[in-house]
Amino acid sequence: MSSVEHVTPAVTEDAPWWRQAVVYQVYPRAFADSNGDGIGDLRGVTSRIEHLARLGVDAVWLSPFYPSPLEDGGYDVADYRDVDPRLGTLTDFDEMVGALHAHGIKVVVDIVPNHTSAAHPWFVEALAAGRGSAARERYIFREGSGVDGSQPPTDWESHFGGSAWERVADGQWYLHNFAVGQPDLNWHSEEVRADFIETIRFWSDRGADGFRVDVAHYLTKDLGEVLPSKAELEALPWDGTHPLADRDDVHEVYATWRAVFDEYDPPRTAVAEAWVDADRLPLYASAEGLGQAFNFDLLEADFDATQFRDVVTHNLDLAARSGSSSTWVLSNHDVVRHPTRYGLAVPGRTDDGRPLVKHGATWLLSGGTEPLDREGGARRARAATLFALALPGSMYLYQGEELGLHEVVEIPDDRREDPTFFRNPGVDVGRDGCRVPLPWTPDGSSLGFGSGPAGLPQPGWMADYAVSRLEEDPTSILHLYQDAIALRRRLLRGEELTWRATGRDDVVRFARHEGWEVVTTFGREGYDLDGAEVLLSSMPVPDGVLPGEATAWVRPS
Ligand code: GLC
Ligand code: CA
Repeated sequence: MSSVEHVTPAVTEDAPWWRQAVVYQVYPRAFADSNGDGIGDLRGVTSRIEHLARLGVDAVWLSPFYPSPLEDGGYDVADYRDVDPRLGTLTDFDEMVGALHAHGIKVVVDIVPNHTSAAHPWFVEALAAGRGSAARERYIFREGSGVDGSQPPTDWESHFGGSAWERVADGQWYLHNFAVGQPDLNWHSEEVRADFIETIRFWSDRGADGFRVDVAHYLTKDLGEVLPSKAELEALPWDGTHPLADRDDVHEVYATWRAVFDEYDPPRTAVAEAWVDADRLPLYASAEGLGQAFNFDLLEADFDATQFRDVVTHNLDLAARSGSSSTWVLSNHDVVRHPTRYGLAVPGRTDDGRPLVKHGATWLLSGGTEPLDREGGARRARAATLFALALPGSMYLYQGEELGLHEVVEIPDDRREDPTFFRNPGVDVGRDGCRVPLPWTPDGSSLGFGSGPAGLPQPGWMADYAVSRLEEDPTSILHLYQDAIALRRRLLRGEELTWRATGRDDVVRFARHEGWEVVTTFGREGYDLDGAEVLLSSMPVPDGVLPGEATAWVRPS
């Protein structure tokens, strides 16, 4: 990699808050349950603000809390401008925002523009109105193939497995790139466009500081009468002209959103969830567009010095190209938690460096019998977290990672909820294992999650990770997160990063500013810190030697 030093545009203390924020993702149904019905809710979030404040996060991002049949954990939205009654009311939302703001914590809400729920009034209307109707024009309806139209229009597959088309009663088919209950919207429709502008205004007016944009690389599509086959689609490059994904014209949509974001003071922010070629990510992150984009490279990397270093170099280059700051993610609601990933055998990579399988997928499928090194995984997770929290840009944390939670494998089939499980029997166990309700206390019917049961069952070992227990132990991972975020806040200035030579392939070292350097040992061997003052470390540093698989923040002597 060529670049040795990264100096992104001068960032001063009055840089926009999102450039180097710590954002904490709340998955509302699994965070805290205020009324004991087993479902986490907005009042639950409000009741646990002390935890978020002690953690020191700059913002909370809430996964969808809108009315939803829950066919995809709430990413199937039936009403974009309301709160699911099981999770509370708009008043509860206002109170939550007020309380978070009073603690200096910003609020980011999730917006799901590629598809609605099948229970959305528009889709209900489309079904009733029949073929050729204006109501069907808001979605993507087609006639089936085969002599009697009884076959799907194409052989396209949904991301959750099975056909991407579903037939309705009068024989037409609709496109759903995700679950059956998530019909794709037609973004050629002016009504669709206008409605999302209204949604953005609605939440911005109610105090939302920003938006996380779900599958931001979909939305616009170019589908003529003759549709390509799956094989034809797969042969097409993702260069802005693909009929289904990452099209250049999606940025026309985001330009109109940006105009709305900028009507507010301070401007509302947005972060794109866009699974696209790295070279196309700056389009999403640009100041004329959404402003920031997730980078999932660290989340996909093994705990490996070369991979981590390359990921950082590459993403800082990309950020410099868009003028945005980079983002860093180790865990979220869609992947196996990182202490577990780092405790499993490395699954191998394709020639172009992509992971062969979703890391942890085979372990889940084995029912957890594949060997998992829980302690080693936890140790590497501590090191990776301190590494990532020291990088220029924003860190997105997922609820429970501050507790060092492992993925839960012990979920009986009849309790599972994720559509990816049901659509891929024997192939994909799905994402429920990172969506189990948080343990707040070591006892109680749902470990302090609420006074009732936990939605997805909590295994017994979760009690050891309870917030109250970790709070009492100054060496716990929770204290490491708290200390790191507090120290980061004190140390952060600009967005510089300078690599330092270590003479070792398995040790990575970089300097930030004002004497703040970061060292990570990715191998088992220790590394002599040469008398540097240790500001914070993921493991004790006896005699000035950082042990293997550890990170230290130091001030060089
Ligand atoms: C995003 C969400 C995921 C959801 C999908 C469809 O990838 O993170 O949870 O299933 O979009 O909305
Ligand atoms: Ca509840």
